[in-house]
Amino acid sequence: MSTSDRRVLVTGAAGGTGGAAVREALALGLTVRAMVRTLDDRARALADQGAEVVVGDFQDITTLRPALEGTDAAYFVHPMRPGLIQATVNFAQAVKETGGPPVLNLSQRNTSRESTGISTRETNLSQEVFTWSGVDVVHLRPTMFLEWFLYPWILPNLRKGKLWMPAGAGTSSIVGTEDLGRAIAALLKEPSVHIGRTIPLSGPAELGQAQMAAELSDALGREIVYEDCDLDEFVATIAAFGVPEYLVGSIRGIMIDYRAGRLGGADDTIEKLTGRRPMSVAEFARKHAALLNGAE
Ligand SMILES: NC(=O)c1ccc[n+]([C@@H]2O[C@H](COP(=O)([O-])OP(=O)(O)OC[C@H]3O[C@@H](n4cnc5c(N)ncnc54)[C@H](OP(=O)(O)O)[C@@H]3O)[C@@H](O)[C@H]2O)c1
Repeated sequence: MSTSDRRVLVTGAAGGTGGAAVREALALGLTVRAMVRTLDDRARALADQGAEVVVGDFQDITTLRPALEGTDAAYFVHPMRPGLIQATVNFAQAVKETGGPPVLNLSQRNTSRESTGISTRETNLSQEVFTWSGVDVVHLRPTMFLEWFLYPWILPNLRKGKLWMPAGAGTSSIVGTEDLGRAIAALLKEPSVHIGRTIPLSGPAELGQAQMAAELSDALGREIVYEDCDLDEFVATIAAFGVPEYLVGSIRGIMIDYRAGRLGGADDTIEKLTGRRPMSVAEFARKHAALLNGAE
């Protein structure tokens, strides 16, 4: 089968990792079906890039079957919102009914049924459901995303010279969604040797928050210091942005896991899969300098 004959489904295509996976899979020459919830400007941009856009809802299995029909591999990503377990069951069932393309399942580095974060607990159960459903699955476990630096409860403090997070001495080999997209595209092209595996996905270096602040300082040419903050104050700040309760509670749990070192670890999976080293904190900061400095 030639690369262009290989049709892959990317769900969450209007989102962070899904959008990056669509771009990178098209760049590899794959035929890409991009699943979105609504036909909005983001969907039109995907079509302009060359993707076949389909509308689908994880909560409605009748929309998943046509999305999966005729595909050779699929990327499954659910946002940090309620509904992951139902979505997993629907997706696994639809995969079985449509000939069983291998599934790349986006989980979390710290996934655990003991976590205090609901989304972290649910990713653990979702992994189990995919595994015992019998579909061919590869579980992807990325650590924190570099895009954290742009979140509305982090960015205003970075502009004032503070990396304000309740991360204690926790470490992470923080990784960009662009690099995740490249790894996902490579796996969509050639998933077979990875089926049944759980794959960690990391940035180029495991860093503590003070080291991240130092890299941000060097890249932006101004001092940024890490300030470890109170967990409840951090959570209250996020809630004040109108962030839904499920996400606030999930972030709370992730911060507890972070402090406890459960997002740590390093690997060179992305470089091995794609032949290119993933982006560092400094490279990300230079790329988004205008935003991080408050100039846009
Ligand atoms: N952020 C981190 O640091 C981090 C670290 C490790 C793992 N993760 C994992 O990454 C995942 C999020 O990935 P992401 O950033 O790529 O997500 P994202 O940007 O939130 O995108 C998710 C997409 O799913 C779509 N969607 C929502 N509900 C849907 C439904 N019922 N049916 C079909 N599509 C639906 C959304 O569409 P709309 O935009 O139209 O609503 C959105 O485009 C989470 O599962 C999280 O656990 C995150």
